[in-house]
Amino acid sequence: MSITIAISNHKGGVGKTTSTVNIGAGLAMEGKKVLLIDMDPQANLTQSYGITKSEVSIYEVLTGEAEPIPVTVFENLDVLPSTLDLSGAEMELSNEAGREYILREAIAPIASKYDYILIDCPPSLGLLTINALTAADEVYIPLQAHYLAIKGLTKIVEVIGKVQKRLNKNVQITGVFVTQFDKRKVLHRDVVETIYTYFQDKLFNSRIRDNIALAEAPSQGLDIFRYDPECKGAEDYRSLCKEIIERHAQL
Ligand SMILES: Nc1ncnc2c1ncn2[C@@H]1O[C@H](COP(=O)(O)OP(=O)(O)OP(=O)(O)O)[C@@H](O)[C@H]1O
Ligand SMILES: [Mg+2]
Repeated sequence: MSITIAISNHKGGVGKTTSTVNIGAGLAMEGKKVLLIDMDPQANLTQSYGITKSEVSIYEVLTGEAEPIPVTVFENLDVLPSTLDLSGAEMELSNEAGREYILREAIAPIASKYDYILIDCPPSLGLLTINALTAADEVYIPLQAHYLAIKGLTKIVEVIGKVQKRLNKNVQITGVFVTQFDKRKVLHRDVVETIYTYFQDKLFNSRIRDNIALAEAPSQGLDIFRYDPECKGAEDYRSLCKEIIERHAQL
């Protein structure tokens, strides 16, 4: 059975794309069949794997012009890429009946091929994100350990609650993890405590530390494990992937 996880936070630059790429790569290295879906018109996930051109992008899939045919980037790891065209999709699809269910329906025929489908969401709570949440079983929220990072949380929690009520009763926030973490900073430790108070055991134990290699790897079209398998970033995402697999093993 495949598990679909939306990686979402309407705040920009919190590590959604970096996490989707590296969790995906880490799970694939553990032998899981993984599909990554780039739902962001910025197409950063697509660019992180150096995909410049593909026959089918998620835009064509959402508009019904094409079937979903992912690009295989590494063993066990496929990507449904994005293009800038996707920025027009919110407008184009806004009058369509059942517009929130388009992604869910579109990927249904290929979902069973995968153990994990991870969706990289844009930094907004518009129709593209709503489609991701409607297609998802679980939501992971990456958070930076800043005071303001937790201030905006009520908004996304509220939106996920509405999606749960009206569109997809199964979807739940099941995971929260801290990115760009520096344990020497008192503020970071304090904020993590606040996050724990709020999310309890949904907060993963693994912290993703600040690590320049994570910012460099996309320029080579590589995930962190292929770019520098010994760096802190690889260590942290490896540890997070282990936790993810363990959580699902307990289900
Ligand atoms: N742990 C980390 N250490 C150092 N740099 C990081 C780390 N995680 C992410 N970055 C860098 O921070 C920037 C923002 O990360 P990323 O693109 O993953 O965030 P995002 O939430 O997807 O952004 P957006 O909201 O624009 O989609 C990128 O330049 C990325 O390389
Ligand atoms: Mg992103």
